Amino acid sequence: MKEAVLKKFGEIFGSTEGVSVYFAPGRVNMIGEHTDYNGGHVFPCALTIGTYAAVRKREDDKLRFYSMNFEKLGVIESSIVGLKPEKEAEWTNYPKGVMWAFEKRGFKMPCGLDIVLNGNIPNGSGLSSSASLEVLTGYFLRDLFGFDVTNIDLAQIGQYSENNFNGMNCGIMDQFASAMGKKDNAIFLDTADLSYEYAPLVLAGAKIIVTNSNVKHELVNSEYNVRRSECETALKELQTVIDINGLGDLSEEEFEQHKSAIKDDVRIRRAKHAVYENQRTILAVEALKKNDLELFGKLMNASHVSLRDDYQVSCDEIDVLVEEAWKVPGVIGSRITGGGFGGCTVSIVKDDAVEDFKAKVGAAYKERVGKNADFYVVEIGDGPSKI
Ligand code: GLA
Repeated sequence: MKEAVLKKFGEIFGSTEGVSVYFAPGRVNMIGEHTDYNGGHVFPCALTIGTYAAVRKREDDKLRFYSMNFEKLGVIESSIVGLKPEKEAEWTNYPKGVMWAFEKRGFKMPCGLDIVLNGNIPNGSGLSSSASLEVLTGYFLRDLFGFDVTNIDLAQIGQYSENNFNGMNCGIMDQFASAMGKKDNAIFLDTADLSYEYAPLVLAGAKIIVTNSNVKHELVNSEYNVRRSECETALKELQTVIDINGLGDLSEEEFEQHKSAIKDDVRIRRAKHAVYENQRTILAVEALKKNDLELFGKLMNASHVSLRDDYQVSCDEIDVLVEEAWKVPGVIGSRITGGGFGGCTVSIVKDDAVEDFKAKVGAAYKERVGKNADFYVVEIGDGPSKI
């Protein structure tokens, strides 16, 4: 990947002199879905796949971008002056958003850049290609211009840019997982105060498998923002009867006791998911620490049911993948992962059942949905780096 992106840089921008190459990973979330904007816990890990950039400073204010993933778009030009989101700017709105967010924090770029990107996260798979691009941009800006920010700042700057420049009200999970990833570990993050702990995730006798449905429904961003505001309304209603900062502050019992303050059935289900999913995540990490993989798997399955029925962010294709996975002997747990409405599932599968899992789930998906699913054995990698 490094060689390819460097070679392309030379082809597009004339030479590779003075070019630096950087990487930032994508992520997969094991459990704790749609809890990160509710002050709850999440448990993601960084992947070894992600986004690569070859970058060189310019002597003027120009920005020139080229992506090997969108070659047809060619070189997209803009300037570091007057950064604003523009439809014609396509994917470059992500790095530009990060530059804009840095400027808001008082870090002004002294010059423009030539940038070539190359990513190996499958498009639209829900494995956070946009967060990896945001963290990557923050990382190379820090390296090239000496901006004094931590990796946690990089995650927050990425989230801020996505919320305020790109109009997606995402939580902090994806950017945090990319910026703070650690090889062979998942990150147990409390989004209420950003305290976190690494938990080793090399499973004895089992593999983590990501299955890509190869579908992405268009409503993903719009419905995401709707879920978020439903949760915010439910929180306000609950705050009239109990002193909490987020849905993640509630135990299941407290929620059941006070839920009648929420004046709408749909909102009760959304809030219920946020509360129960947070508690499931805490339990799941405890189970993992005790090597109780069976319990971890059961909690993953319960997470899926809740996301499907109460939070309603699954879709038929993903439900087929999960249902078929549950039928295969040796599957410890399986659920949708990420924002929803397509993308991927994550499953824990015993070593000797992996081939059977791929064959059976793949064949059933083809038969019931008419599409091919792709399977990847997860390798958990580190956060961003200069390579
Ligand atoms: C998307 C968002 C995250 C998180 C997940 C759902 O990936 O970017 O912040 O909310 O959905 O858990």
